[in-house]
Amino acid sequence: MIGVIGCGNMASAIVFGIHGGYSDVKFQTYNPTKSKAKDLAAKVKGEAVDSLDELKSAQTLLIGVKPQKFDELAAQLLEAGIDLKDKHIISMMASISIDAIKRKLGVSKVTRVMPNTPIFYGKGVSLILHSDELSDETKETINNYFKACSEVFEIDSEKTFDEVTTVTGSGPAYVYLFAESFVNKLKSFGIEEKVAQKMVTGLFEGSSLLMRENAEDSLQSMIDKVTSKGGVTIEAVKKYREHELEKITSIALDSAVNRSGELSNEFN
Ligand SMILES: NC(=O)c1ccc[n+]([C@@H]2O[C@H](COP(=O)([O-])OP(=O)(O)OC[C@H]3O[C@@H](n4cnc5c(N)ncnc54)[C@H](OP(=O)(O)O)[C@@H]3O)[C@@H](O)[C@H]2O)c1
Repeated sequence: MIGVIGCGNMASAIVFGIHGGYSDVKFQTYNPTKSKAKDLAAKVKGEAVDSLDELKSAQTLLIGVKPQKFDELAAQLLEAGIDLKDKHIISMMASISIDAIKRKLGVSKVTRVMPNTPIFYGKGVSLILHSDELSDETKETINNYFKACSEVFEIDSEKTFDEVTTVTGSGPAYVYLFAESFVNKLKSFGIEEKVAQKMVTGLFEGSSLLMRENAEDSLQSMIDKVTSKGGVTIEAVKKYREHELEKITSIALDSAVNRSGELSNEFN
């Protein structure tokens, strides 16, 4: 039985995804706005509960609250009188370390997960970091649950987990930013915004598919396939390189990693 604490957007998508792949997994759901817990429970044939102490028989607790709410939740869990010692905590809270979760809840078995929003359509990327106290069998079970709604990448250090999160977790925002720049350019060519967005969506979707289907090829060789010497596309590629797209990406992501470190200091 998995007890879900905080049935917001991400937790609901994950629970729905797990239920789709493993319909035998049972869920209890808890959320301050009770309708959210009820709606999620109804979708996965689970049971919505009104108070945290009703989660005492769940061996695993999936925490879907925002990091800022974790201290409040930890106090509520301890007050609820649940024996947490042997529970397995799965946290999707950004910037809260395994050690902080162990310390604040008095647990030893912890998994950190960092999904991204395409998980809403079963196409997410999830990073997973397990604490050493978990058995290999449990680690595999949890990885499989997340594979039901995302591609899973197990990471072996917290530092790398937080760094990679700035790409895979935050990444949809950067993809939309890049897409927005194409849409704006198309608009300057006189294309209506909605049409432009459709064009760019198709461009990203089709290019992603080609990347996946040609996973053995380097990205440079894929660029080579779309460009020819003296042609049109290579002119734009040259300008992107001259204006150091890669450097801009590196600066942006270093800044995100720094901010993640600041938040870790604040929350842990
Ligand atoms: N959004 C992303 O792209 C993304 C990606 C990866 C990971 N995450 C992580 O996923 C987590 C949830 O994000 P989200 O976007 O799903 O947020 P969200 O939709 O706001 O969900 C948070 C939920 O937590 C509930 N909650 C608040 N205080 C609580 C408490 N004391 N006990 C139990 N539940 C409580 C809220 O209920 P009420 O509505 O009733 O207040 C809400 O349903 C965050 O920790 C975030 O770091 C997000």
